[in-house]
Amino acid sequence: MDIKPLTGGLGAEIFGCDIRNEAEFDEIQNAFAKYSVVVLRGQHASPEDHLKFARCFGPINVNRFFKAVDGYPEIATVLKEKDQKTAVGEGWHTDHSYDQVPAMGSILNAREVPPYGGDTLFVSMGAAYEALSSTLKGFLDNLWAVHSSRHVFGSSTSNSEAAKSGRLGNAEAAVQDARHPVVISHPLSGRRGLFVNPVFTTHIEGLNAAESDALLSMLYEHCRQPEFQCRVRWEAGDITLWDNRATWHKAINDYHGYRRLMHRITVDGVALSA
Ligand code: SIN
Repeated sequence: MDIKPLTGGLGAEIFGCDIRNEAEFDEIQNAFAKYSVVVLRGQHASPEDHLKFARCFGPINVNRFFKAVDGYPEIATVLKEKDQKTAVGEGWHTDHSYDQVPAMGSILNAREVPPYGGDTLFVSMGAAYEALSSTLKGFLDNLWAVHSSRHVFGSSTSNSEAAKSGRLGNAEAAVQDARHPVVISHPLSGRRGLFVNPVFTTHIEGLNAAESDALLSMLYEHCRQPEFQCRVRWEAGDITLWDNRATWHKAINDYHGYRRLMHRITVDGVALSA
């Protein structure tokens, strides 16, 4: 297989690999550990292939809110129809950060893509942390933040297009709140990285609301710098996997009038520590 880094910060494309070939798994996993975001070109995987590959990483973490693929309750549908305006995952986020034990990562299988646009952007949270001053790092190192699913998937969002169209549901299950260190040590590599995100993080503990909002806004603006990003341009049949403990991501909603259908499987992680 041929592994080509996407940027200096994170991400790599792999050409000439096959997720159905178990002998190739270790090399794919090593690339995943090194680059945090890995694009496997030209897989054209069935739901069964997708599930089998995901289980090589660990048990599947079934998403409570996304509509499942018919006949496959462990696979979430990430869909925007051609007449819909909003896309799922448009804001910068880390999947499942509202869980006490956040997911290890997600594996997204491109089933139908628009003729242009619909890319996914990623940020390296390790690179973003490393670029901060040592004084600010020292302050952040002792802080904890609260994350929640309530304001994103709960009943207050029942008038959204995603809820009304059935793409998202199960609002009564949106009762998760979790606290995590603002800076985590990656469970496998030990690399330090920021672990707050604009969609699910509600506040930093021990600060008043104005202080918490200002600090989070400053960190978010810092993280959004292009130097920490990579961009995945999809072809139907590609699979991209990303490490939730090391990245943010965002779906770009710039393909109005076209359908985009992705299948997502999320894999269990471990509790996070500073
Ligand atoms: C997601 O946020 O998990 C979906 C990303 C995408 O559709 O590109």
